[in-house]
Amino acid sequence: MTALDAYSDRAQEYASALGRLDAMALQDVRRIESWGGGVDGPILDAGCGPGHWTAHLSALGHEACGVDPVPAFVQIARREHPGTEYRLGSFADLQEEHGAFGGILAWYSLIHLPPEEVPSVLALLHGALRPTGRFLLGFFDGARQESFDHAVATAQFWPAEQMVELLERAGFTIIDLERRQDPGARPHASISAVRR
Ligand SMILES: C[S@@+](CC[C@H](N)C(=O)[O-])C[C@H]1O[C@@H](n2cnc3c(N)ncnc32)[C@H](O)[C@@H]1O
Repeated sequence: MTALDAYSDRAQEYASALGRLDAMALQDVRRIESWGGGVDGPILDAGCGPGHWTAHLSALGHEACGVDPVPAFVQIARREHPGTEYRLGSFADLQEEHGAFGGILAWYSLIHLPPEEVPSVLALLHGALRPTGRFLLGFFDGARQESFDHAVATAQFWPAEQMVELLERAGFTIIDLERRQDPGARPHASISAVRR
């Protein structure tokens, strides 16, 4: 079963458990809010899942749109956040959106990609940003690049240093890197970057 099939089967379960701002770590809420404050122009929440981050950015006054390839997520997001725009689509569709966004959030949405696909997806994300557009990436930090059995589908750990290199190669300049180990959770990292 692919990751997208697995999310399709469990979209409502995922949304009930993790599709709410009050289920998110406060540090992540603050990180995303603060990142959004530095964005000029429309924001794309790429791989938005149940759409809670898109809706939060929208509530803060940003022009935000969520996109996800799982129809059940798009339906849930539209139902739960009727004032926010959500589209069915995937990273591949960003080829049509050259230079369209002031900011792109990819919060744990690259974690299921086969590692060899990550460089080309980062290039697509880079291309969809305006010059000087901002990117924020959230992912599982790891001592080495390896896969593991995530609750929904196989996912990847990425050493943050390796992700920094991939981002730089895709044309980003790193603004900052955050790493955290919350009790009972997998190691977390987020990288904020700007399109060169
Ligand atoms: C762990 S969930 C994260 C969802 C949301 N960003 C969040 O923070 O709750 C992974 C998401 O990545 C999406 N995803 C997987 N492959 C994708 C692709 N090729 N293009 C866009 N999104 C994708 C999935 O549909 C799912 O919504």
